[in-house]
Amino acid sequence: MRVMVINGPNLNMVGVREKGIYGTRSFEDICSYIKDEAKKRNIQVELYQSNIEGEIINQIHKCYYEKFDGIIINPGAYTHYSYAIHDAIKSVNINTVEVHLSNIHAREEFRHKSVTAAACVGQICGLGEIGYILALDALKELVVKK
Ligand code: DQA
Repeated sequence: MRVMVINGPNLNMVGVREKGIYGTRSFEDICSYIKDEAKKRNIQVELYQSNIEGEIINQIHKCYYEKFDGIIINPGAYTHYSYAIHDAIKSVNINTVEVHLSNIHAREEFRHKSVTAAACVGQICGLGEIGYILALDALKELVVKK
């Protein structure tokens, strides 16, 4: 089973940016954690991060052409306004789980709405990096059921 993990803008700065919200663990460390947990679950993961909307869209399309079984995406601030990322997720017809480190519902009003979540099978937020692992487990269940 192959899963693409896509992180959007500014997530590469986790561990440096707003530590009170995103924690002190570095992005590289979170990526290693995801890789280790995926290995334990016998899931092949590819990790991708970009600060550029079009590159994120290209990566979603790649999942279709390369026949990935699932996508985990944290679109960063694009979550709140990128109809293009919403459409890209819809286009590929691959089970996609949206993850946010922080609880977007407990923050500024503009973060309460996700325009990308409606294109996903579900959303996990507020649980820090554990969210990515819960998403791996969810995708595994969904792929088995298919
Ligand atoms: C985020 C939440 C977004 O509102 C914010 O713009 C981010 C990170 C999260 O993981 O909590 O960059 O997606």
